[in-house]
Amino acid sequence: MTPFRFGVDYYPEQWPRARWESDAQLMREAGFNVVRLAEFAWARLEPQEGTFDFGWLDEAMAVLERHGIAVVLGTPTASPPPWVYAQNPAMFRTGPDGVRLPYGHRRGYSPHHPEYRAHARRVVTAMATHYAVHPAVLGWQIDNEFGDRDYGPAAQEAFGRWLQARYLTLGALNSAWGTEFWSHTYSAWSQIPTPLAHAAPHNPGLGLDFARFSSAAYAEFQGEQIEILRRLAPGQKITHNLMGFSPEQLDYFELARDLDWVSWDNYPRMWWNVYAGDDPARVALSHATMRGMKRQNFWVMEQQSGPGGWQMVVPQPRPGELRLWAMQAVAHGADGIVFFRFRTARHGAEQYWHGLLEHDGRPGRRYQEVKALGEEIAPLGTRLVGSKVQAPVAMLLSYEARFALQVQQNHPSLSYAEQFGYWYRALHTRNVGVDVLEPLEDLSGYALVIAPLLHVVSPEIAHALERYVHGGGTLVLTARSGVKDFENAVVDAPLPGLLRRLCGVQVEEYDSLIGLENGVTLEHGGKALTVNIWCDVLELEGAEVLGRYAHDYYAGRAAVTRHRYGAGQTVYVGALGDLALPEALTHWLLEQCNVQPLLETPPGVEATVRSSESGAFLFVLNHTQKSQTLRLPEPWQDAWGDTLILEPYGVRVLERVGVSQGVRVG
Ligand code: GLA
Repeated sequence: MTPFRFGVDYYPEQWPRARWESDAQLMREAGFNVVRLAEFAWARLEPQEGTFDFGWLDEAMAVLERHGIAVVLGTPTASPPPWVYAQNPAMFRTGPDGVRLPYGHRRGYSPHHPEYRAHARRVVTAMATHYAVHPAVLGWQIDNEFGDRDYGPAAQEAFGRWLQARYLTLGALNSAWGTEFWSHTYSAWSQIPTPLAHAAPHNPGLGLDFARFSSAAYAEFQGEQIEILRRLAPGQKITHNLMGFSPEQLDYFELARDLDWVSWDNYPRMWWNVYAGDDPARVALSHATMRGMKRQNFWVMEQQSGPGGWQMVVPQPRPGELRLWAMQAVAHGADGIVFFRFRTARHGAEQYWHGLLEHDGRPGRRYQEVKALGEEIAPLGTRLVGSKVQAPVAMLLSYEARFALQVQQNHPSLSYAEQFGYWYRALHTRNVGVDVLEPLEDLSGYALVIAPLLHVVSPEIAHALERYVHGGGTLVLTARSGVKDFENAVVDAPLPGLLRRLCGVQVEEYDSLIGLENGVTLEHGGKALTVNIWCDVLELEGAEVLGRYAHDYYAGRAAVTRHRYGAGQTVYVGALGDLALPEALTHWLLEQCNVQPLLETPPGVEATVRSSESGAFLFVLNHTQKSQTLRLPEPWQDAWGDTLILEPYGVRVLERVGVSQGVRVG
C-alpha cells in the first residue's frame, strides 16, 4: 500500500544542529512523512574538490528517520559552489545578449560544458554511492527546475555536434534550412552560430533546432545523472521538479520520459501575479500538464507555504488558502504534497519566501493550518493514492509549435500559452476534465480533442489526427496550424498544409490584425464576436460554415467551419482573439460530443473527480472569499444530501466507496 506523501522541503545545513530535533518533532506533529533535502547543499557536501562530507547529512537523516520521516535527496547541481566556478568561469552560461553570467544567483552553469558535466558526475556519483542502500531514501530529485538556454562557446560547439548527428551532412542541413537565403550556406559545422539576439532575425530552421537542442541538452544532463543513480542506487525512484505549464524553454515530455515520476513546484500567488488575482484555471492547467507528462499522478515537490518574495513580499495566504491550494493539487491528481519550505530563511536571496515556520522558528498560523490538513489527508491516504482524474477531453501540447512561435511570433499579441489557456479555461470553468497530452499520444477514448496553434506538423502527427477523427473523434484546430514542417520551413501547399484534408478547408489568405484596434467581427450562433489577432479567410473544400466574418473585405466569408470526416468531425477555428471565441464555441462543442460537465458550480468554484476500482472522490473547491451553495449531482446525493455549502476558500472531499463504475465523470 502506498501512503499519500505529505511533507516539506528542509535545509538542515542552514540551521544550527541543536534545532534539528525540535524541527523533526514539529514535522511529525504536522503529519509529515517525507522531506526533500540537499538540493542546494553542494558546498557542504563537497567543500573542496574530491573531499566529501556526508556526516552532517547522515545525522540529519537519522534525526528525521527517528521521527518516521522518509527522504527525497536532491542532487545539488543547480547551484555550484564558488570553487567550481573559479576553476573555469567558461563553465557558465552566456545569455542571448552574448554576455556570460558572472558568479551569483544559481543555475548559472552551462549544461553543455564538459568540465561542468564532469563536476556534476563526480558529486552525484559520491552521493549515489553513499546513499545507495539507505533505508530512509525514498527517491531522488535531479538538480532543480532546469531551464535557461546557453548561447556561449560551449553551446555553439555542442550545437554543431548535435546538428551533425541530426543531419549527417552539411548538404542536408543547408537544404533543410534553405540557407541559399542571404547566402548563409555553411561549409563547416563550426560556422553555425547560436542565435544571439543582436544578430536576429535568424534562419527559422536554425531557431527551432536551437530550441530543440537546448532542451535536449538538459534531458541529456539529467540522463547522465539518472544513469549514475540507476547503476549505483538501483531501485530508488527518480524525479525532477518541473514548473507546470508555463516554462517556454524545455520540452517537458522529453525530460519526463526518463523519470520514474513527475513532480512540480506550485506557487499560486507570486508577486508578479498578485495584481492579476489568483487564478484557479491557470494552476489547474499546470496540474493537468504535469499529469499528462507520463499519464500518471504526480507530486507537488514545492507547494507554496506562505507569502513568496525575493525583493517584494506578497500578501499572506488567507486562512484556508494553503489548504485550498494543496487540495486543488490533490483534486487534479497529486499523490504527494511537499511544502516549500519548512522554516523561513534568515539569510540569502529568499529571506522573504516564507515557509511554514516564521523567521524565528515559531510554528504560527500557517503551520497550524497545514497540520490540520495533514490530519484530514491521512485517513484518505492509501485509498486516494493512485486514483485517477477522469477527463473526457484532451488538449494537445506541442513544444515544437511553441518553440517555432517563439522564433516568429506572427503577431505581438499571439502567445501559444495564452491561446492554449483560453481553451483550457473555457473547459475548466464548466468543470470538464482535461488531459494535456503530446500530439502523438493515443487519443482513443477522448470525446473531444483540442489542439490550438498546431503550427509545426509532421506526416505522423497528421495521420494520427486523421485516425482519431476517422474513428469518431471531434478535433478542434485553429488558425496558424499546419503552417510549418519539422525543419520550420513553410509548407509547399495551401494551409493548413497536412491538415487540410482533415479540415475540409483551404486558407485562401490570412490577415494579421496588427494595428486594427477594433479587430474584426464575426458571427457565430447568432452572436457577434470580435477577434483582434488573426483572421484566416477560408475556402470550403467539404466543410460547412459555423461562423462568418461580418466585417472588412472578407465579410460573409467562412471563419469557423466543421468538416465531417469518417465517423468524426474537425472544427477549424480560423480566427484568433481572446477568450471570447473559445468560450462561445465550447458550449456547442460539449453538446456535440455529449460531454456533460461534472456539475454546475458558481464562478470560482471548481469540481473534479478522482476514481479507482475501490471508489470515487468528488472534490469541490471554493476559490472565492464568500461562502457558496451548490447542488450536488445525482450519484452523490444519497450520502450527502442535495445541497452543499462551502465556506470562503472551503474544500469538500466526498467519497463513495466501491461505486466508481456508477459515477458519471464526463
Ligand atoms: C523555486 C525553487 C526553490 C525556491 C522557490 C522559491 O521553485 O525550486 O528552490 O527558489 O522557487 O523562490
